[in-house]
Amino acid sequence: MSEPSHLRAEFPAVPAELASFRPRAALVLGSGLGGFADSCEKLFEVSYADIPGLPESKVPGHAGKFIGATLGGVPLLLAMGRVHYYEGHSARQTAAHVRFMASLEPQVLVLTNAAGTLNRDFAPGGWMMLSDHLNLTAASPLAGGPNFFDMSEVYDADLRARFRAVASESGVSLHEGVYACVPGPQYETPAEVRMLRALGADAVGMSTVFEAIQARALGLRVVAFSCLTNWAAGVTGETLSHHEVMETGRRAAAVLGGLLETGLRRGLVAG
Ligand code: HPA
Repeated sequence: MSEPSHLRAEFPAVPAELASFRPRAALVLGSGLGGFADSCEKLFEVSYADIPGLPESKVPGHAGKFIGATLGGVPLLLAMGRVHYYEGHSARQTAAHVRFMASLEPQVLVLTNAAGTLNRDFAPGGWMMLSDHLNLTAASPLAGGPNFFDMSEVYDADLRARFRAVASESGVSLHEGVYACVPGPQYETPAEVRMLRALGADAVGMSTVFEAIQARALGLRVVAFSCLTNWAAGVTGETLSHHEVMETGRRAAAVLGGLLETGLRRGLVAG
């Protein structure tokens, strides 16, 4: 389980409003998905730069701040933007914001990302809830310990069942599948995409997995969603652009917002 005092030592100077906030859930909003914050009631925001110990994001679309908010009365901490392994941060550094959020003792961590789809039944513009992952980075945020952490159920089966039920009641198509995390920063080659399919992946991206590993090691329940922003390279013959990824994310954000609102209410309040 998490040890908040030990975690807090890593972040010795936290602005008071954030230090005293006790969110029920923490969320990481990935590329183009920041629009979810608009459906919440904002209480305060704190830039990552104002928290010594947190690395700063340099990617366009990753704003780099925490928002304290409520949604349907549930206190939430939103991480707007993350840092990536491909920016040159270590695996441990990319999970620093998760350790920070865990120090505020939320029960649940919701991770979101933009991903390329590898599964011909999962069209771009849709959402995939992660059932499991492939960590293809050859790195881990736990290097140095704890060792031999059990990973049989990274993505919480009970929360997934709740989100599945909410999606089907709301008539929203929510796929479930395996997310492959690659180091990036370049997109995949068609041969790499064939390999990823053969390995059993349904979507591919460059984030989330270190955060999920770190959060599980700290005892948080984790659920994660991929916004399927594009067909992975070679599927259609078209080239990929970061702009396309961001635009599709923006359009799809409202759908996830609705699912999260109902799912969080049920999973955490009615729980
Ligand atoms: N590949 C890797 N990462 C991504 C992709 C992709 O096709 N789309 C969005 N993030």
